[in-house]
Amino acid sequence: MSPILEARNLQKAFGGLKVIDDVSLRLEPGDRVALIGPNGAGKTTFVNLVTGNLRSDSGDVLIGGASVTHSGPAERAHRGLVRSFQVTRLFQDMTAEEHLALAILERDGKTHRLAGSYRAMPQVMREIGILLSTLGLGTVAHRKVREIAYGQQRLLEIALALALRPKVLLLDEPAAGVPQSDTGRIEAALADLPADLAVLMIEHDMDLVFRFARRVVVLAAGAIIFDGPPQAVTRDQRVREAYLGSYANVRRAH
Ligand SMILES: Nc1ncnc2c1ncn2[C@@H]1O[C@H](COP(=O)(O)OP(=O)(O)OP(=O)(O)O)[C@@H](O)[C@H]1O
Ligand SMILES: [Mg+2]
Repeated sequence: MSPILEARNLQKAFGGLKVIDDVSLRLEPGDRVALIGPNGAGKTTFVNLVTGNLRSDSGDVLIGGASVTHSGPAERAHRGLVRSFQVTRLFQDMTAEEHLALAILERDGKTHRLAGSYRAMPQVMREIGILLSTLGLGTVAHRKVREIAYGQQRLLEIALALALRPKVLLLDEPAAGVPQSDTGRIEAALADLPADLAVLMIEHDMDLVFRFARRVVVLAAGAIIFDGPPQAVTRDQRVREAYLGSYANVRRAH
């Protein structure tokens, strides 16, 4: 299969410090990849280079075989590369339904229409309903963001990302800060994602990683030191060494 996303030889330094050092990665449709690594390894920086939120010093990013190296985040999103929104980008006084309506209208280039009129658009309403139920948010559709639990806000971020109909979804620690009692919802949502969507998830919770990922990529000090099946990662000597000092044992992370 040809890759839907390809990062080629990406490099990024901050000041004198090389944070991403010649990283290449390919994602294919349907991939379920966990990107793990010690704190400060460069995981978030890598995602920022891929999305175009940060400019790389060198290297290329391709979506569906076409270079987007010189495109900004909006153009990359338009081509199907979407990261989950950050909670801080949610509007406290807007409901879950309103957020989704805006995302859908924006995707379809219809934001000039009055936001309030989406209820008269059956297709938009149907799509909102599907997204809310996929993420288990049906019961809070009309609640304002400020009134829903943090875990549900994170689910709403994923719903907003899906509303853009991505081909590649990048999730940076989707379960971070979510109470243990709510992580099951996030896991269920992840398990329900479209089969042909390629997903790359940064995650520290190794239990979640092992349940979600069919492939694990380990980044340490800006370089990929492991790329393979989850069953092999904890046995890998280089991975164990990279985690020494960060975590006593990769299996026990968090
Ligand atoms: N804008 C920036 N300017 C300077 N240094 C930065 C910047 N962003 C990140 N860094 C540094 O780059 C390194 C990698 O950071 P990054 O956030 O990518 O790590 P990470 O793997 O996502 O870590 P974590 O698991 O803690 O989220 C760190 O040393 C960090 O301090
Ligand atoms: Mg990070």
